[in-house]
Amino acid sequence: MRKHIVAGNWKMNTTVPEGVELAKAVVAKSVEVPSDVELIIGTPFTHLYPVNEVVAGTRVALSAENCADHAKGAYTGEISVDMLTSVGCQYTILGHSERRQYYGETDEKLVEKTKLALAAGLKVILCVGENLEEREANKHFDVCKAQTVNVLKNFTAEDMKNVVIAYEPVWAIGTGKTATAEQAQEIHAFIRKTLADLFGAEVADQVSILYGGSCKPSNAKELFACPDIDGGLIGGAALKADDFIGIALSF
Ligand code: 13P
Repeated sequence: MRKHIVAGNWKMNTTVPEGVELAKAVVAKSVEVPSDVELIIGTPFTHLYPVNEVVAGTRVALSAENCADHAKGAYTGEISVDMLTSVGCQYTILGHSERRQYYGETDEKLVEKTKLALAAGLKVILCVGENLEEREANKHFDVCKAQTVNVLKNFTAEDMKNVVIAYEPVWAIGTGKTATAEQAQEIHAFIRKTLADLFGAEVADQVSILYGGSCKPSNAKELFACPDIDGGLIGGAALKADDFIGIALSF
């Protein structure tokens, strides 16, 4: 059985005190969620230490939203994987479309980041997804395949135990326009086939593939009912504990 996961990506939202309160509310409500659903909250770097104080010892895991592509040294403003593990991080999101689009994140950099993260004992949530232009040109399969293969061809079946994929169509992020369950399932199955080509069907079958893009309590059930959708990476709705937990109750 693949792991069901609901992960929040807070992006650049909340001050530290607000984030701590949000984390406390998520932990308090997490008791409602069946124990086979893994809950993760991804916070800005500044929040990781105090939010870890809240989630440590609970069922809620902690994620960063990015990490540096170097281990240490003269890289002003960057945050290393060892810094992340030292504040209790278990995961990092990598390759989010906002980082690809606004900060020049390339597949080459993602290979380095993924190598460093896995070597440090972090699990990686690797994001892939096409933009609207690519979807309209019917290039979404090619784009998702390239983003998946360019990074993961550098890793082993063993590494994949610590990798989660998030399919996030850029046109659905923060737009209120969710992919239909059919559209999402089609791509999730395709990504799983891509993983099977790289690592074999048995490994592909064990990798959790999350959907992200305007996922909310009202549409999560339909999405999570699809055979290849193993959970969600949640942006806006992760900023309200009730909505985030509502999504986690949708399996
Ligand atoms: P929204 O849920 O706000 O559309 O964001 C999705 C996302 O980008 C999660 O990483």
